[in-house]
Amino acid sequence: MKKFLSILLALSLTLGLAACGEKEPVDYKGLLTKEGFTYSADELEDYAAMDDVKVYANDLPELDKYFEGLCDLGVAFGANQISPFFDENVDFTAESADMNVQIAQSIAKHYNMYVLGNELKSDHCNPAPDTYNFDDGDRLVEFGKAMGAKLRGHTIVWHSQVPQWWFKADPNDTSSLQDCYQNGTLASREQLTERLETYITELMTHFKDDIKIWDVCNEVLNGSGIRQVADDSYWAEIIGDVDGNGYADDYVEIAFNKAREVGGDDLVLMINDFNLEWQDTKVNAMYDMVERMLRKGVRIDGVGFQSHIGLDCNVAKYRSCLEKIASLSEVYDECFPEYKGNFRIQITELDMNMYVGSLAGEYGFHVWTDEDYEKQAQKYAELTEMFLDLAQEGKIDAIVFWGTDDENSWLNNMDGKMRRNAALLVDRDLTVKPCFWSVARAAAARKANG
Ligand code: GLA
Repeated sequence: MKKFLSILLALSLTLGLAACGEKEPVDYKGLLTKEGFTYSADELEDYAAMDDVKVYANDLPELDKYFEGLCDLGVAFGANQISPFFDENVDFTAESADMNVQIAQSIAKHYNMYVLGNELKSDHCNPAPDTYNFDDGDRLVEFGKAMGAKLRGHTIVWHSQVPQWWFKADPNDTSSLQDCYQNGTLASREQLTERLETYITELMTHFKDDIKIWDVCNEVLNGSGIRQVADDSYWAEIIGDVDGNGYADDYVEIAFNKAREVGGDDLVLMINDFNLEWQDTKVNAMYDMVERMLRKGVRIDGVGFQSHIGLDCNVAKYRSCLEKIASLSEVYDECFPEYKGNFRIQITELDMNMYVGSLAGEYGFHVWTDEDYEKQAQKYAELTEMFLDLAQEGKIDAIVFWGTDDENSWLNNMDGKMRRNAALLVDRDLTVKPCFWSVARAAAARKANG
């Protein structure tokens, strides 16, 4: 009877869709993976024992499935990296010899949370007054919907990759911000506030139904407080301390309040930063600022730990920093009882620099050994275990890698010089690395042990 009913349901859905002229949804993820995986820890060992497994291979289990029920698993990529999906000459679920197709397929196959690395940054989206460029964001939305993935919007307020014209009294002024600062021709508080609020209104109106998680602010702190001109940021200089409470971080509140007002109550609005994995002064500054804002009624739903870590990362230290920030949930629950339990941490830009210790100052094309890859696998396993401890305590709900593979990683370029880093789970030829298996193994074991 049950079977009959489900056939009837499927039939009526198909007819319904056909009647509306819509195409039946395609199970892309399913079609990119052979059937029958159990995702058990034992089964995983059979696959982990195989050599030279490609990340896009049909007979490789999906990495995010090991994390099901624990946390989301995400990846950042460039809009160009998903363009094969939109190419009508590409059969997206068929095996392909084209590396661009293979990378796009691997994104679809292994992750359930997506982020655009650059194309939702404000300089890209609002390059000139009254000019909005949301095309790449729209593609992210279309791709995300097709794959059933969650989306993170990254990022609105930052000191880098932000439109320079926002900060100038005359938006057509071609001089540098430093010159404007010295010549007294920076924008006024009113101008910058108006430009920011207008942009957020356009952005949120456009994306609020599809992109539910946002890094509203990125890297607003220096090592111990709000960024200043000396730290390359003109936000605090221009908007300053509006409410007279002694802190020039009011632009952060303005951004969160506007995003909430336009985007609605169901958005997850976050603040994101680096070095929170180890730098106590910064962790304390983040804690104090978010607490102060929460108590003022600014609903900040979580903190993103970028997590650009190194092979020498101190996992115990990192855990204690996460615990400290996670304890903000008590303040959040007190201030926003109707959203109790909604405060979270996300690991937003995870990668692992291999040039540490004696290699720290080295550039060029280092050849990594099996031993290096084993050490990396070990470190990624320790990290995953620690993240999953916190996920099971309801403190972390997503882990996002910053890049698809070792070739597509910002860490290959340091201070304008090239170095052959190996930061991610997948090698440059798209072979999965030992750390791919160690991460899967840590998650599979956790699921098995409950
Ligand atoms: C920071 C930013 C990201 C990205 C990386 C480098 O962490 O938050 O958007 O630019 O640097 O790729």
